Amino acid sequence: MNLLSFGSVNRDVVYHVDHIVREKETISCRNVTTGIGGKGLNQAIALSRAAGSACLAARICEKDGELLVFLHAQNVDTRFVEICPERTGHAIIQVDRRGQNSIIVAPGANAGFTPDYVERVFTEFRDGAVVLQNEINLIPEVMKKAHEAGNLILFNPSPFSDAILREYPLELVDIFVVNEVEGGAMTGEREPEKILRAMLEAYPSSKTVLTLGAEGSYFADRRVTIYQPAFRTEVVDTTAAGDTFLGYFLSSYTKNSDPKEALRLASKAAAIAVSKPGAAASIPFFEELA
Ligand code: RIB
Repeated sequence: MNLLSFGSVNRDVVYHVDHIVREKETISCRNVTTGIGGKGLNQAIALSRAAGSACLAARICEKDGELLVFLHAQNVDTRFVEICPERTGHAIIQVDRRGQNSIIVAPGANAGFTPDYVERVFTEFRDGAVVLQNEINLIPEVMKKAHEAGNLILFNPSPFSDAILREYPLELVDIFVVNEVEGGAMTGEREPEKILRAMLEAYPSSKTVLTLGAEGSYFADRRVTIYQPAFRTEVVDTTAAGDTFLGYFLSSYTKNSDPKEALRLASKAAAIAVSKPGAAASIPFFEELA
């Protein structure tokens, strides 16, 4: 099945800190690193490394030609990437000593998608699987057009915003991938089993994957609930672990329709991602999972 990530590209500026800065506090960082990220780009790379190839629909500034070179080197098909005058998105990321992070995203070019662009993409990209996150504009439009073109839709509601519940055609989503924060915001529940039940009640024909970091992950639909413990590893940086999980899950699930195996593979890939620094740079190649 053809796979498309429709989403953001960011330049990540990472501040390595002892703890995530608190309200009214000023802190110094130990060092600063830069990298390539954005949930759309990370998920395209995870899909490509898991499945062998994937497309990315995104917007990149005309001054950032090296990002295209980078994507080609990762075997990401960039035929839908729009080169534009706006600044490429960027993210300010704090990573603490335990490898946990907090992220602020400045959308830049990620907020400039037009209905014409969406139409063009889905005139060509049909009957595949489309992965969406919430770092770009026009997501409701993208969901509708992706669905009309016969694509399976996987939605990762990150970063969460209230507009998702108010304005997005969530009944078109085939698979939700949420962490405990997003699952909690979508349902008002806190415990994993209750989140999964509430998701099924609200979206009875959708499947939900709930990721809980070190506490493992779940898959649930109307017929089964499956739990997968996390693989133990040294945590260096959790950035893009969720993106890695999602790419490996979808690649495996669309190949074998086996949610148990897809969860196992995705958990293994995410464990490797958290053991390395960076976003796109931490996503493992398929051979590393052997
Ligand atoms: O999921 C991690 C990503 O979130 C980072 O690469 C950052 O750019 C933000 O989009």
